[in-house]
Amino acid sequence: MSASDSAAAAAAAAHTDDPIALFDPRGQYLRLQADIDARVAAVLAHGAYVNGPEVGELEDALCRWTGAAACVACANGTDALVMSMLAHGIGPGDAVFVPAFTYVATAGAVRLTGATPVFCDVLEATANLDPADLDRQIARVRKAGELTPRAVLPVDLYGLPADYARIHEVVLANRLLVIADAAQSMGAARDGVPAGALARMTCVSFFPTKPLGCAGDGGAILTQDAELAQRLRVLRTHGTDASRTAVELGMNNRLDTLQAAILLAKLSHLAPERQERERLAERYDADLAEIVDPAPRDSGCDSAWALYTIRSGRRDAIQRSLSDRRIAAAVYYTVPVHLHPAYRAFGNGPGSLPVSERLAERVLSLPLTAEMTQVQADRVVQAVRDALSG
Ligand SMILES: Cc1ncc(COP(=O)(O)O)c(C=O)c1O
Repeated sequence: MSASDSAAAAAAAAHTDDPIALFDPRGQYLRLQADIDARVAAVLAHGAYVNGPEVGELEDALCRWTGAAACVACANGTDALVMSMLAHGIGPGDAVFVPAFTYVATAGAVRLTGATPVFCDVLEATANLDPADLDRQIARVRKAGELTPRAVLPVDLYGLPADYARIHEVVLANRLLVIADAAQSMGAARDGVPAGALARMTCVSFFPTKPLGCAGDGGAILTQDAELAQRLRVLRTHGTDASRTAVELGMNNRLDTLQAAILLAKLSHLAPERQERERLAERYDADLAEIVDPAPRDSGCDSAWALYTIRSGRRDAIQRSLSDRRIAAAVYYTVPVHLHPAYRAFGNGPGSLPVSERLAERVLSLPLTAEMTQVQADRVVQAVRDALSG
């Protein structure tokens, strides 16, 4: 072996030990650094750190991107959900239907309004809200007669849009409001309609690891109702209107100008980054579908690919094998929301939502970033295969 061959072999060996992250916001920053730094420098120079021009510019850009009529940027995805419900007067005595297999924030937002979360099961194939179970839960609540059914919050889990057509059918018959929890699905589409225009109201999170993430907390509400957007702007700013008169109780729920500027820099990369993750997802599908259940898909859907989540009865062995090779993987979510201590009182305990409970035992999210190399993807596939070959 020549000296240059052995140097190359050493470099390759070192490479095979490098950690692989589940998310890589820093790597993304380094790739987009020129755009982001220019945007950030502009804000620092103009000095309008709150309610600066970039906030409105971002809201307009997100409307163009999604086809929503109006956009109201806010402090985070949870507050987007809270404000959307408050704007409809949802509160104590109201029932809001949520999937049990989601991040706790979906149900937490309902509790923050004083309303009661009613947990529904999800579909095994997509891990998203099961419209038939939604129908059953609405009927159960109506029969009990203690709460008024008001809204449903479908979640686009892992970036895959929920089945809004079937959910709207159920909801129309029951006259409920649909507020999409699209925290994980910016960049996704269903039948060509982008997430953000699949429901009358859509709430987005810009948490750093989301498909469109800022450098801190951020969120937005997209809506087809411009009048409602006006009300949301009042709620966002201490309940004050354009003349600074407090017309109702509100909160401080603004998106920082710096975060808006960072999001503007990233927005133009959202589509190519999604495509990059989809390419990787297809690669995982091809290499893993025979040994695990691959990531959920649904017909007519372009997932945002926030996460690539496999299902396997040997999930823990796979995670150990990945961890031994310094490859990050995580379980979203280890416990369905109705079994968390803070939400047990609102559910019917273990066994009541079997699909959500089974998924919690089987899911594992693998690294899927636009920064990943072919070599890294090979290592992920090999670690999964090795875990299952023994
Ligand atoms: C499904 C879902 N809903 C709501 C939220 C809350 O968003 P944020 O963290 O921006 O408040 C998240 C964020 O993790 C989420 O994944």
